[in-house]
Amino acid sequence: MLILGLESSCDETAAALVTGDRQVLAHRLAGQEAAHRPYGGVVPEIAARAHVEALEPLVAGALADAGVALAEVDAVAATAGPGLIGGVMVGLVTGKALAHAAGKPFVAVNHLEGHALSPRLTEPDLHFPYLLLLVSGGHCQLLLVEGVGAYRRLATTIDDAAGEAFDKTAKVLKLGFPGGPAVERAAALGDPRAVPLPRPLKGSKEPHFSFAGLKAAVMRAAPDHAAADLAASFQAAVVDCLLDRTERALQRSHGATALVVAGGVAANGAVRAALQALAARHGLPFIAPPLWLCTDNAAMIAWAGAERFAAGLTDPLDTPARPRWPL
Ligand code: KG4
Ligand code: ZN
Repeated sequence: MLILGLESSCDETAAALVTGDRQVLAHRLAGQEAAHRPYGGVVPEIAARAHVEALEPLVAGALADAGVALAEVDAVAATAGPGLIGGVMVGLVTGKALAHAAGKPFVAVNHLEGHALSPRLTEPDLHFPYLLLLVSGGHCQLLLVEGVGAYRRLATTIDDAAGEAFDKTAKVLKLGFPGGPAVERAAALGDPRAVPLPRPLKGSKEPHFSFAGLKAAVMRAAPDHAAADLAASFQAAVVDCLLDRTERALQRSHGATALVVAGGVAANGAVRAALQALAARHGLPFIAPPLWLCTDNAAMIAWAGAERFAAGLTDPLDTPARPRWPL
């Protein structure tokens, strides 16, 4: 089984070819950092136009890398949401057109499902159900992944996502864009105990998240502290919150076969290390995708497409783009 996957929901344009037996035959990606950097964040209209320019060459390049023709794919998968509507429409319309031209089925993929199933692409032994901490720029959730299309949401954020807090902190500390990796680099040079910062919702009964108060505290502390110390203290606070909330959810996830993390913030070394230790304390395997599979990419969309296609789930060509689409 060979699936072409497309991703365009935020500021990465990507195309990939993945097989049903987990081979990534090609994955191409075009970032848009330079276009958005002057604004310190993703500008939706600029993103949509950049996707239009980048997508077709990426698809052609991926097919060439894999040495296959479009006619050889078994299905085309594209992100149908959630995300910036202009960008989502570019990938969705392109995916439908390619499926139609090749006379192959189309699979509409929820971007969050792409993240949620991505660990199974590189970990054949990861079986359902597993407890997933999904931490990205737009989402922060704990999900019990029970099967393809079967996601039980145990918790979500009541305000900001963890990635958003990283990006805002980078902006306040003038560390550059994109924010997450910049904060992680600065944090490596600072003292995580230098600045006392709040741990919102830590210890609360429901395993929900909150990062708005932490973000505000960073903004208040910024004038009085070295950027590296504040970055390190902020990162330590985020890790503390993620750990406490995930441990709470673990207590409610009987039968979970593994603790899994996915999404852009899963690329963070401190987050990975803390979760690894937590899993060990609970006697569970810890699974984190390789870094390139954590941040947005099309291999995870192709893989989610492969899992859905294998389960007989395909979608009509009038499937709408969904800017908001909870799992
Ligand atoms: O999954 P993703 O690429 O896009 C969304 O679906 O949102 O996640 C992007 C988020 C951004 O907020 C980015 O700052 C964060 O992931 N991120 C990181 C790191 N790499 C990316 N946050 C902390 N540490 C990192 N190394
Ligand atoms: Zn994402």
